[in-house]
Amino acid sequence: MTADPVSAAPQAQPITEGPLVDRYGRVARDLRVSLTDRCNLRCTYCMPDDPDAWLPDETLLTDEELARLIAISITHLGITNVRFTGGEPLLRRSLEQLIGATAQLRTQTGETPGISMTTNALGLAHRAQKLADAGLQRINVSLDTMNPDHFEQITKRRRLPAVIAGLAAAKAAGLTPVKVNAVPQTAHFVTDAPELLRFCLSNGYRLRFIEHMPLGGSVSWERNAIVTRKQLLEAMTSAGARLSAPEDARGASPAELWQVEWDGLHGDVGIIASVTAPFCAACDRTRLTSDGQIRTCLFDQVETDLRTPLRAGASDEELAELWKRATWRKPRAHGIDHEGFARPSRPMSAIGG
Ligand code: 5AD
Ligand code: SF4
Repeated sequence: MTADPVSAAPQAQPITEGPLVDRYGRVARDLRVSLTDRCNLRCTYCMPDDPDAWLPDETLLTDEELARLIAISITHLGITNVRFTGGEPLLRRSLEQLIGATAQLRTQTGETPGISMTTNALGLAHRAQKLADAGLQRINVSLDTMNPDHFEQITKRRRLPAVIAGLAAAKAAGLTPVKVNAVPQTAHFVTDAPELLRFCLSNGYRLRFIEHMPLGGSVSWERNAIVTRKQLLEAMTSAGARLSAPEDARGASPAELWQVEWDGLHGDVGIIASVTAPFCAACDRTRLTSDGQIRTCLFDQVETDLRTPLRAGASDEELAELWKRATWRKPRAHGIDHEGFARPSRPMSAIGG
């Protein structure tokens, strides 16, 4: 006897539409997707000099798996912006295809999602246009200094010219505004911060300094050794930059912004005080690691595994539900400044910036 095709059909379960809300009323709209934990630089604040173990290949999400999770997040969970990160996202050969697949999606309000990338820009010079054609809109480039020796000290590689070329290609391809993320270095910020600012102003890049966070790099992290906002502002103004105080509170954006005028050059500079003035209360991020774990916060001790259920045949609804439950448990704040703070279990390179 054959089963009645109608009654045997699985009941189409309605998808529990987003958004991704947590216990504190925050809504996650911004998805960071790490495409690999590998990188061709070794920034001291980000990863060990000699990582003894990369994530095993079989644990890395395939392109299809990544595309499916991104689609679930945008279609059903209210994500409106996707940022590709790493490690170094350019190391993923299928980056253009993943961007293309994301660009085909529509948010719950019918718009093209925002698509951006955080990169070290190595190899970007010959890929920027292809990435833009695929649907990439904006990039953030990690660059801490214009001094080739300091660059090498920080990244353990002598690749500054390739980064500069990558930045120029990104601008030419319209991946604007091009932003530069810099972690100020205690030993050199007095000279390097103004020099980097001048370079950014001359090229129309928007510079953002980010306070050094304890994220498992090879350098030790000390609360008292963080370059302060005051020190950075002094370094830039002593070199000749004229900064005008931020107009009002930074709102939902983590960067506090100053307008800059310097010998006829104009622009802005931001400081992201992730440690001394955390923006956790306004955080709208959720993270997917390259091995398929949801991380609601950079510093969370807990991850939610989507890879195992995904590979066991979970439906879109089930995966969406797991993501929502993970988000509900998002910690209120990272607590770097509090006693009992514990570093996350992976280095930044394996979490995704
Ligand atoms: N502290 C602050 N910022 C960091 N980044 C990487 N590691 C750290 C850290 N320990 C930044 C990089 C990159 C972005 C992904 O995060 O500059 O631009
Ligand atoms: Fe690589 Fe970026 Fe980490 Fe530097 S900060 S090691 S460029 S992932």
